Amino acid sequence: MFSKISRIVKDWFRSRLPVDTVMEHLKSKKVPMHRHSIWYYFGGLTLFFFMVQVITGILLMFYYRPTPDHAYESIVFIMNEVRFGWLVRSIHSWAANLMIAVLFIHMITVFFMQAYRPPRELMWVSGIVLLGLVLGFGFTGYLLPWDEIAFYATQIGTEIPRSLPIVGESVMLLLRGGQEIGAATLTRMYSLHIIVLPLATLLLVGFHLFLNQYYGVSKPVNSKPKREALQFYPNFVLRDVRSWLIALLLLLCIAMIFPWGLGEEADLLKPAPEGIKPEWYFLPLFQTLKMVPSRLWVFDGEALVNIVFVAGGLVLILLPFFDGKSRMERNNKLIKTIGVIIIIYLISMMIYAYIE
Ligand code: HEM
Repeated sequence: MFSKISRIVKDWFRSRLPVDTVMEHLKSKKVPMHRHSIWYYFGGLTLFFFMVQVITGILLMFYYRPTPDHAYESIVFIMNEVRFGWLVRSIHSWAANLMIAVLFIHMITVFFMQAYRPPRELMWVSGIVLLGLVLGFGFTGYLLPWDEIAFYATQIGTEIPRSLPIVGESVMLLLRGGQEIGAATLTRMYSLHIIVLPLATLLLVGFHLFLNQYYGVSKPVNSKPKREALQFYPNFVLRDVRSWLIALLLLLCIAMIFPWGLGEEADLLKPAPEGIKPEWYFLPLFQTLKMVPSRLWVFDGEALVNIVFVAGGLVLILLPFFDGKSRMERNNKLIKTIGVIIIIYLISMMIYAYIE
């Protein structure tokens, strides 16, 4: 009975959608197997955490109220009154951090395998824009609980672009919706967090994955095959699912053993508490700004740091265009060495900000 219904359903879809063509493509696609193949799972893991974020985010949205008078109260309600509300919130917050961590790993490994080279330039460019969007999720989501740390960290965070020449003040006003953090800021952060960023990310992830299917998986320069390439469907897909199940188990354990906390409600009349720091992924910028003197020769120190970080982002996005086709088969040691230096710098700044 069941197999008969399933055959009827399959035939119905087969006669209306190109199911057979898609399946043929997935079965003919191969994933190269070599000593770096493990890194191929991190794009899929990023996708997994993104899906967790969408599902848990929708559940939180049912109860969250985005106004300064009700935001904190609604989070307390979610944590204490809603069945499993504390767990859903904890999973959402932990998965956000894990998503950013695996996204960085995905990007770093793609960088070292030089998978951004032609014809995959657009995969890299869409990836960097996705990185910006994902960091945007972190930034906009941080204010939503409206507790002390969220409030003051957003105050510091929205202050940072102010020193940028020409556009600085406008960027800050655009983010805050006024001179101070208030109801307008919360509305802006919430709309960005639940509508603008998810829509943009969904579209771009779709494009990124389409390109991945179109070009197939790249093979790193100089890698020796360990064994025969793996069929993408069903073999690699099943391994992807195995990595998702391990990630889910880990996420559930962390979210239950270390439930995400909530500080005191933000009080706009109280002075900022000592030692407020942003989330770990913004610490390198935060610490660099803190260490640079306010004037560097004729330049404003803070503006200079901001310009260097923005320029760094632009260089990163354009990377495939200057490490391109002409050097296709060369292991570009110079670019890899610069990459290692930048990663060491960012991690040291992060550690320094933590222990300071
Ligand atoms: C929401 C964020 C992202 C998602 C969901 C995602 C997802 C994926 C998936 C599933 C793959 C195929 C499996 C793999 O090779 O790992 C992939 C490949 C790739 N991704 Fe991403 N990715 C994201 C962000 C990024 C970022 C930040 C970059 C780099 C700037 C990037 C660059 C690439 C490249 C170049 C490939 C091709 C790798 C190859 O063919 O070997 N992606 N991505």
